[in-house]
Amino acid sequence: MRARLGQLELPNPVLAAAGCAGAGRELAQFIDVARVGAVISKSIMTEPRTGNPAPRLAETPSGLLNSVGLQGPGIDAFLQRDLPWLLSHGARAVVSIAGQTVREYGTLAARLSDAAGVSAVEINLSCPNAEEAGRLFALDPATAGSVVAAVRASLRHDIPVFAKLSPDVTDIVAVAEACVGAGADGLSLINVVLGMAIDPGTMRPALAGAYGGLSGPAIRPVAVRCVWQVAEAFPGVPIIGTGGVRTGRDALELLLAGASLIGVGTAIVHDPSACSRVVRELEEELAAIGADQVADVIGQAHGAHGRLARGLARRA
Ligand code: DHB
Repeated sequence: MRARLGQLELPNPVLAAAGCAGAGRELAQFIDVARVGAVISKSIMTEPRTGNPAPRLAETPSGLLNSVGLQGPGIDAFLQRDLPWLLSHGARAVVSIAGQTVREYGTLAARLSDAAGVSAVEINLSCPNAEEAGRLFALDPATAGSVVAAVRASLRHDIPVFAKLSPDVTDIVAVAEACVGAGADGLSLINVVLGMAIDPGTMRPALAGAYGGLSGPAIRPVAVRCVWQVAEAFPGVPIIGTGGVRTGRDALELLLAGASLIGVGTAIVHDPSACSRVVRELEEELAAIGADQVADVIGQAHGAHGRLARGLARRA
C-alpha cells in the first residue's frame, strides 16, 4: 500500500482532503492520524478569518454544498499550534494555502519554508467562496501559473508543490499545463464544482452566500474525467485524485484514471473514520484483482495495453 509524495514514502496513498478534517485534531478521536497517508490541512491564509455567514452547508442528492469562506486561524496560529500537533501525533502534514493575491501565496510559502515537517504544499487555486478574498485563480492558465511560480520561488526546494484545480473550466489540461510549466510537482484534481440550491419553502437560496462548492459522490464522475484528461496529457505528473471518494472501489477508479494518491474529503463529514476504511477497502480491491501494489493500477484504464488489463483479459 506504500505510495510516494515527492521524495517521501507514505504508508498508503489515502490522504484526508483539504477542508474536511480541519488540521487533523478533530479526526484523532476516531482514527490514528499517523495511519492516514497524509493529512491535508484546511486552506490557511496569512490572517485569521471568520468565514461566511450561516447557513454555510446544504445537502443535495449525493452531494454537499458549502460556503465556508476560508474560515481559519491564520498562518501564525497554524504554525504555533496546528502543525506541531500533527507532527507530534506522527502524521505527515500537507499544508493547503490560499491567498487573496499572488503575493500572499508567496508570503505563505516563505513562512512554510521556515517550518520543519511540511511534507508538501497544496496550492488552493480554486476556493469558490471567497469573493472578497480574490478571484478563482484556477480559471485562467496564466494566473494559475503565476501563483505556482510565486510559491515555487519562495518555498524550500525539497518541499513538493501540488496545485489544486477547479473543474469549472473549459480546458483543465491547459490550466494543468501552465501549473506544471511554472514548477508544480503535481496536481490535485478536483476542487468543488460551483453549485446552488434554493429552498422552495422559503423561496430563498439555501446558503447565505447563494452559491457554494458542491462536493461528494455527485462530483466523482467529473473528478474521474479530469484526472483522466490530465493523466493522458501528462502521464508522469503525480495527481492527487479527489472528488466524491467514499469507498475503496471509488479510490481504485481514480487510480485507474491516473491518480497516484487519493484524497478523501466529504465522506469524512458523516464517517470520520472514512480514510482508514478506504485504505482497508482499497487493499481488498487490489488483492481481488491480483495487484501486488498500488503502482500496478495507476493509469491502467488508459489503453488496453496495461499489464493488469492484459492479465484480466486472459483470465476472462
Ligand atoms: C472553501 C470551500 C471549498 O469548497 C473549497 O474548495 C475551498 C475553500 C471555503 O469556503 O472555505
